[in-house]
Amino acid sequence: PSRQDSPLYPVLENAAAFYRQQLRHHAQRKRAVDYLQQRGLTGQIAKLYDIGFAPPGWNNLMGHLATDNTEEKVLIEAGLVVENPDSGKRYDRFRDRITFPIRDSRGRVIGFGGRVLGDDKPKYLNSPETPVFHKGRELYGLYEARKQNRQLDDILVVEGYMDVIALAQHGVTNAVATLGTATSEEHLKRLFRIVNSVVFCFDGDNAGRQAAWRALQSCLPALEDGRHVRFMFLPEGQDPDSLIRSEGHDAFRARMVQQAQPLTDYLFRHLAEEAPPDSLEGKAHLATLALPLIEQVPGSLLRRLLRQSLEARTGMDLDSLPAAPPVEPTSA
Ligand code: CTP
Ligand code: MN
Ligand code: MN
Ligand code: MN
Ligand code: MN
Repeated sequence: PSRQDSPLYPVLENAAAFYRQQLRHHAQRKRAVDYLQQRGLTGQIAKLYDIGFAPPGWNNLMGHLATDNTEEKVLIEAGLVVENPDSGKRYDRFRDRITFPIRDSRGRVIGFGGRVLGDDKPKYLNSPETPVFHKGRELYGLYEARKQNRQLDDILVVEGYMDVIALAQHGVTNAVATLGTATSEEHLKRLFRIVNSVVFCFDGDNAGRQAAWRALQSCLPALEDGRHVRFMFLPEGQDPDSLIRSEGHDAFRARMVQQAQPLTDYLFRHLAEEAPPDSLEGKAHLATLALPLIEQVPGSLLRRLLRQSLEARTGMDLDSLPAAPPVEPTSA
């Protein structure tokens, strides 16, 4: 079957319904509800994001959704049931976890994230790659963001499920998450089909800062003139969830307005840390690092302004340079 009418969709939808129901009726539902309340979520927002509960036990979902081997195999293909390669034993992937359905842009469930209720590891489990779920392509919360906003002017990109949901709980309803994968050019293409302005707001830790620089690199080939990308850097140890819960909506918005740096500012600031242009050597080093990045920008006006900015920083007339050889996208 084609991806369009994959038999996995109804199965994933049924799984979401099962987890949703368990959060309301399972004997241990109170643990899950308490956890969500302790994280500041209301029933209303839980409903909007269709949060559920995968109960403890090895075959709750399997027992509920599969009556024979053929149906179990579909659950395996959907990533909901795992088969041990040695013993052949089959068991539910998500056990004793809060579940977050991941939907495609049409609202179809394509996978799940699952969080432990405490401090066990791994903190999050995600659906594996399946015929309908491609982690590097999907943006968690995009369907819900569009549902909550008649028109989206900008989209906030964050790291995690709980960031998206906590922001929505506090009235910031335009956040999506990349789910622990790097922001890809595919993600950017998708975002810029919907909005002209993207704001990255990753965690205030080393992983978050590294993710921001990688995101910048993925953005460059998408930078047509008229598109805006900004980066918001959070205080050490904070993420959007913790910050909006402690500061509230207005302070978070104010931060966004005052502190989100245009991509181009961030680019030069970051490169100047690696190559301070305080000597001729430093200036040459800066130009070496900046030029291959600048040349990836398709917007000819923005590309020209970036070259001018590099000229101002280095005191060099770049147009007098021999044409640069074609540049491979950098990875570091
Ligand atoms: N992640 C994951 N697997 C992990 C840890 C993280 O898939 N073991 C992904 C999740 O999508 C997570 C995101 O990376 O939401 C960001 O990670 P982190 O900042 O560690 O988690 P938080 O979302 O802040 O988790 P929480 O607030 O629930 O503790
Ligand atoms: Mn983090
Ligand atoms: Mn968090
Ligand atoms: Mn986090
Ligand atoms: Mn922001």
